[in-house]
Amino acid sequence: MISATADEPLNVLDLPQIYQKPSGTDLVKALTLLTLQPRTFGTSEDAVKGPAVQPTGVTRYLTSIVASPLSWLETDELREAVWDAAASRLSERSGRTAMPAMSRIFPVPSSSGEDYTLTLHEPSITADNLGMKTWVSSYLLSRRLHNLFGSPPELVPSESINHTPATEENQRPLRALELGSGTGLVGLAFAALRGKSASIHLTDLPEIVPNLAHNAALNVELLTRTEATVTTGVLDWSVTPNPLPAPEERFDVILAADPLYSPNHPRWLVDTIGPWLSRGLDARVVAEMPLRDAYLPQVQEFRQRMVDLGLAVVAEGQEVGYDDWESADGDALAVKCWWSVWGWCEKV
Ligand SMILES: C[S@@+](CC[C@H](N)C(=O)[O-])C[C@H]1O[C@@H](n2cnc3c(N)ncnc32)[C@H](O)[C@@H]1O
Repeated sequence: MISATADEPLNVLDLPQIYQKPSGTDLVKALTLLTLQPRTFGTSEDAVKGPAVQPTGVTRYLTSIVASPLSWLETDELREAVWDAAASRLSERSGRTAMPAMSRIFPVPSSSGEDYTLTLHEPSITADNLGMKTWVSSYLLSRRLHNLFGSPPELVPSESINHTPATEENQRPLRALELGSGTGLVGLAFAALRGKSASIHLTDLPEIVPNLAHNAALNVELLTRTEATVTTGVLDWSVTPNPLPAPEERFDVILAADPLYSPNHPRWLVDTIGPWLSRGLDARVVAEMPLRDAYLPQVQEFRQRMVDLGLAVVAEGQEVGYDDWESADGDALAVKCWWSVWGWCEKV
């Protein structure tokens, strides 16, 4: 019988070998043990949790299964199932980009102490559809959201440019917008946490929105229970809104995670925030992004453009997460991320 503990991973030689002509069931069980998930974004402890089987020799083991005619198995269906599983295990070992589509579960802490659970579908990704995967800064921001909306200054809907103090009577649901939502972790977490006190519109490029909408539908039970209001749609930062949004179409909160990875992004993003952000002093932009060396100039440009727009940092900080890409030697990669909350300067 195959068994492994977290402390003592199996050796590949403990698995059923092709020369032994093992049954299809034993092969499928062994291949299930070899399943690799992307690393969790969580603590370093989670991130370095070892595999059930020692990596040495696993690729050769998988290749031996794919190359075998499996002639002793009873049916073509069983042979196909074993070959498919072995091929999937091989592609999982070719890096995060080669991973097949998957569903991942993300716990989101709430201020009541109860964790909400979001399930997100992540199709396999390529270099030009980065929104098909969930990125570390959105994981960190989703875990920070419950703390961002209690401490002063309290986020309340901005009724007008006159900054009328919010009272029970003049409070309407907060209108929130997420830019570059990707798989939707931040926006869906916000929706569940805020419940009926907010609505949120999750946006991205046209090729990303179908999976984003699918993820909103996947979590309908949680969103219904929390009385959340979520919509999804296309919003391309490179396109200037025409006509410009009317004051009542603007949003009280704009969220963005990991939005900068091309030279145009800082300008496009800030040019999108400008017209869509409410003008009230309570309006907020909440952003989190990794501080990767290659993109530091863009982070700096984003900061400067936000200031030029008339916004100032209300709160900010840095934190470390663990990417689900790994280094060449298989270690978890620590990523330093910068989170920031912005509001309009009084004098604008
Ligand atoms: C690195 S991904 C981050 C996705 C998600 N926020 C997360 O952190 O998991 C960047 C996202 O920005 C989106 N994006 C890039 N350029 C965009 C544009 N011009 N307009 C709208 N979204 C864009 C991408 O499609 C992608 O979903």
